Formats: sequence, structure tokens, C-alpha cells
Amino acid sequence: MPDTATAILIRKMEPGDREAVRQICWETGYGGDSIAPYFDDPALFADFFCSYYTDIAPGASFVAEDDGSVIGYLFGCPDTRRYSRVFYCKIIPALLGRALLGRYRIGRKTRRYIRQVIGSFFRGAYKTPPLDLYPAHLHINIAAGYRRAGLGHRLMKAYFAHLRAGGIRGLHLGTSSLHRSAQPFYRKLGFEVYSETKTNLEGKPNAALVWVKRLDQ
Ligand SMILES: CC(C)(COP(=O)(O)OP(=O)(O)OC[C@H]1O[C@@H](n2cnc3c(N)ncnc32)[C@H](O)[C@@H]1OP(=O)(O)O)[C@@H](O)C(=O)NCCC(=O)NCCS
Repeated sequence: MPDTATAILIRKMEPGDREAVRQICWETGYGGDSIAPYFDDPALFADFFCSYYTDIAPGASFVAEDDGSVIGYLFGCPDTRRYSRVFYCKIIPALLGRALLGRYRIGRKTRRYIRQVIGSFFRGAYKTPPLDLYPAHLHINIAAGYRRAGLGHRLMKAYFAHLRAGGIRGLHLGTSSLHRSAQPFYRKLGFEVYSETKTNLEGKPNAALVWVKRLDQ
């Protein structure tokens, strides 16, 4: 990393960034570390978590680029209602179709992970805040070695400006207490905890947290 993180460019995500952001998603998928010990197939993981932002509605996402390499991203979505429609009606059926055709490696690790995700979903671990107040959402991940240098802050500021320009009132995000660096980060950026629910991931008790922030106050 250069001495000053300001040498790193923050810009809108472009189609050519697709593979880099999918790779970072895989390498940061477990509390900032690689999800590889808990999941079998990088393509399935990235199709699940990235495809809405990279393939369907890329216009609100940003990346951090160091000397031509993407080293962090913020996936943004100003309209979470639209996201949910597309995710459940288009992305999940496409994933199931590919899984049935045997296009993914689905071993013991993946089956366990999916059971936990479905369990959290049905227990309502991640509460949806009022979408009239907080219609937008985001996911953010910076590659190891580039953290705590102001890049997350700069990606967030770019996203907030994009949302304010579109008249969006507020935003929310879901995370786990396993992402230890994320909690002070969101607090510093002016988010407040909307809900906190005890849950369990890979045998580790943790809290499912939903954070919210108004942009119109
Ligand atoms: C969380 C994350 C996005 C923050 O981005 P970042 O570039 O590292 O954070 P910044 O350097 O912009 O930090 C901004 C402020 O947030 C707070 N902060 C960030 N990381 C922190 C940490 N590890 N401990 C305490 N405070 C922290 C600080 O107040 C910091 O300001 P300061 O450095 O002037 O004190 C990044 O560290 C990351 O990707 N972590 C691993 C994956 C992850 O947890 N993603 C979020 C999933 S929900």
C-alpha cells in the first residue's frame, strides 16, 4: 500500500471490475477473512452475494483502485424493495437451476453454511427497518492490507453523495458481530443500531446486527 491512501482512486464500479470484486467478496466473506474454510465453491458464493450489484443494477456501486488493481468495493442499492423482488424471483431461481444442473460444487461445508443462512432467515435474525425511511442498503469490503487507511470512509462518502443526489432519505445494512472492525466503523460513519439478535455461525455465538442512517437530517 502506498504511504498515503489518497493515492488510491475511488470510482464507480465498471463491468471490468466483476472478477476482482467477486474475489474480494470470497476473501473477506467470514468476518473479513476468507470464507474458504466454510464454503466449497467461490462461484456459488459470489453469484449469491454479488450478482445483483455486478450484473443487474451496477449503477450505485463503487470501488477503490490501487495502481490498476481493485482492492475494495462498496455494493450499493438505493431501492431495497426492488432488490428483494429481483433476488427472490430471479437470482435464487437461477442459482437453484445451476445447482440442479451440477454447475456448482456443493459439499458438506456449503450444505452446512446454507442451513445456517436459511435458519437465520426463518428466525428473523436480520430485521428489515422501515424502508420508507431507509430504502437503500450496502455491503462493503476492503482487502486485507488496505484496511484502516481511510478507504472505507471514502467509499461511504461517495455512496452517501450518490444517494443524496438521488433524493434518498436513508440507508441500512446487515452485519455480524464477527466483523469486529465493522462495528466501530459504522458507528463512526453515523449509523445507529436498529436491531441486534443473538445467533450462531459455524459454532461461534454472535450477534446479527442491522444498522441504519438517515441522510435527510
Ligand atoms: C470495515 C471496513 C469496511 C472499514 O474500512 P476501512 O477502510 O478499514 O476503515 P477506515 O480506515 O475508513 O476507518 C474509518 C473509521 O472507522 C473506525 N474504524 C475502522 N476500522 C476500525 C477498527 N478495526 N477498529 C476500530 N475502529 C475502526 C475508525 O474510527 C476509523 O477512523 P480513524 O482511523 O480515523 O480512527 C474494512 O476494515 C473491512 O473491509 N473489514 C473487513 C471486512 C468487513 O468487516 N466488512 C464489513 C462487512 S459488514
